[in-house]
Amino acid sequence: MANKKRILTGIRPTGALHLGHYVGALHNWINLQDEYECNFLIADYQALSDHFHEIDLIKSSVIDVTLDWLSVGLDPEKSNFVIQSYVPEHAELAMLLSFITPLGMLERNPTLKGELDSLPVERRSAGFYNYPISQIADILLPRAHLVPVGEDQAPHLEMSREIARKFNRMYGEVFPEPETLIGKVGRLSGTDGKGKMSKSQGNVILLSDSKESVEKKVRGMYTDPNRIRADIPGKVEGNPVFQYLDAFTTDDKNVEDFKTRYRSGNIGDVEIKTYLSNVLNDFLEPIREKRVYFESNMNLVEEALDKGIKNARKSANETMKLVRDKMKVSTYKKIW
Ligand code: TRP
Repeated sequence: MANKKRILTGIRPTGALHLGHYVGALHNWINLQDEYECNFLIADYQALSDHFHEIDLIKSSVIDVTLDWLSVGLDPEKSNFVIQSYVPEHAELAMLLSFITPLGMLERNPTLKGELDSLPVERRSAGFYNYPISQIADILLPRAHLVPVGEDQAPHLEMSREIARKFNRMYGEVFPEPETLIGKVGRLSGTDGKGKMSKSQGNVILLSDSKESVEKKVRGMYTDPNRIRADIPGKVEGNPVFQYLDAFTTDDKNVEDFKTRYRSGNIGDVEIKTYLSNVLNDFLEPIREKRVYFESNMNLVEEALDKGIKNARKSANETMKLVRDKMKVSTYKKIW
C-alpha cells in the first residue's frame, strides 16, 4: 500500500460534467484507482481564474462535480477527493513557486496563450496569467509522481517538471518530477458537431441529464448536413452520431451494420438516433441511480470530501514543512 505511486489530477468546477469528461478523463481515472494512490482535485481557486464573476456557479459546481464523480464510480474509499480551497497550502506553495518561475515560461506556454487570446480583455487578470503556477502547486503539493491529463495540459506538465527540477537544484531535493500519463482516452465533439464542448454552448450531454433530455438532445444532434433524405448515402467519419456510438456501444457489430446502411443510404436519421438514445440511456441509467442514492444521502458526500481533504492537508503540511525549511521562510526561531 505505502509504496503505491501517487497521482494527482484535477478539474475546474465550472459546471456539471458531461459525456466528453467521461470519455476524455473519468473513464481513465476509474481504472487508475487500484494501482495508484489517487488524488482528485476540484480546483475551485483555478476556476476563479476565468469565472471570478460567477462565484455561485463555482460553488454549486463543486457539489455537482463531487456527485458526478461518485456516480460514475470514483471511490472515496480508495481515492482522495479534494477541494483546492480547503487546503490553502495550495496558495502558499503557488506564491513561493511564482518567484522561481521565469516569465518567459508563461509567455511561451501555448495552452495559456490560446486561452488568453479567447478571453475578453476585461477578464484577462493577473491571476489568470498565473494559473499554470497554481496548477504546478496542485501537482507538487502532494508530491505526485504521475498526472493523467489530456494533450492540452502537456505544457503545464512540462512547466511542472522544470520547476520541480529548479527547486530541487536551488534549495534541495523535495519534489519528484511529475510524469504525464496520457491514457487511452477518446475525444468527443459537441452534439452540434463543433470541436469544443461547453455547457454554455448547449452542445453537451450531461452525466446528470434525464432520459427525456438525452432523447431531445440526440434528436437535435448534428449529422451529415448533405444527407437531406434517408436514401442519400451519408458520411460516417466526423459524424457525431457515430462518434458517440463508437464511444458508448456495447455491441460493435450492430454499430458496424448501422454504418454500412448509413453509407449506402439505407437508414433514416430517426432510426439511428433512436438507437443512439437507447445506447446512451443504457450507459447513463446506473449513473443516474447512483446519483439519486448519493443525493438522498448527502452525509456520504460530505464524508467523502472530509476524508479526502483531511488526507490532503496532512500531506500538504508535510510538504510545506520541507519547502519552508529549504527556502528558509518561517524559520526565525532558528536564528537566535
Ligand atoms: N487545468 C485543468 C483543466 O482545466 C484542471 C486542473 C487544475 C488540473 N489543477 C490540476 C489538471 C492539476 C491536472 C493537475 O482541465
